[in-house]
Amino acid sequence: NALHVPQEPTSTNTESQERINTFDPSPEKPFVLGLPTGTSPVLVYENLVQRYKAGDISFRNVITFNMDEYVGISREHPESYHSFMYKHFFSHVDVDPANINILNGNAPDLEAECHEYEEKIKKAGGIELFLGGIGPDGHIAFNEPGSSLKSRTRVKTLAYDTIIANSRFFGNDLSQVPRMALTVGVGTVLDAREVVIIITGAHKALALQKCIEGGVNHMWTLSSLQLHPHPMIVVDEDATLEL
Ligand code: GLP
Repeated sequence: NALHVPQEPTSTNTESQERINTFDPSPEKPFVLGLPTGTSPVLVYENLVQRYKAGDISFRNVITFNMDEYVGISREHPESYHSFMYKHFFSHVDVDPANINILNGNAPDLEAECHEYEEKIKKAGGIELFLGGIGPDGHIAFNEPGSSLKSRTRVKTLAYDTIIANSRFFGNDLSQVPRMALTVGVGTVLDAREVVIIITGAHKALALQKCIEGGVNHMWTLSSLQLHPHPMIVVDEDATLEL
């Protein structure tokens, strides 16, 4: 697998690794991790679960913040991001349920929910590492084309392309796909001290090209990573087709 870094990195990957290795999270100083859903991170979760089961790592002193959640389906819905996270990760590791933060897409006041989420991130000391994926339209979390690069956690209407892309999880029935979501903003992601994005497949090749070879712009929100001091994009061969 190839590895592409979108701009001259301000630190080498070895330096990044060393920085991460120096963390020794404790209850007083937990590690704050931003987490994604989607097919792209599934192998990462499998790997982390295996390493946890082998006794190599622990999530006891880790606080997590998920990127996004659909509006209008219940937490128990099999395709909610809440269900996804428990199925692939939280049910298998020792993370304290009190340290798990996932936006509530059924909160009575969605704007207040988003505002409180930003406050919780701030209170936790900010996100150390944000792991993510992208949609074929280059969206990061659910920051669809046109999102402000300074955006914070908010309600977002999903782009038609995203509704089509995600219909595979809803029996290919477009009418079943939620139309709205709560998502961290581009600004929220950029505030993380390190951002790692996984991009696989030919259907994301154009997005990867726009995001790392094009200019920074709000129509391809991943391109904002060019402004980040510690970004890393991990890709497979197929995703590099347009580079
Ligand atoms: C959704 C999520 C994104 C994720 C994307 C990619 O749109 N909101 O955060 O990056 O899916 O999903 P996949 O990895 O399944 O292609």
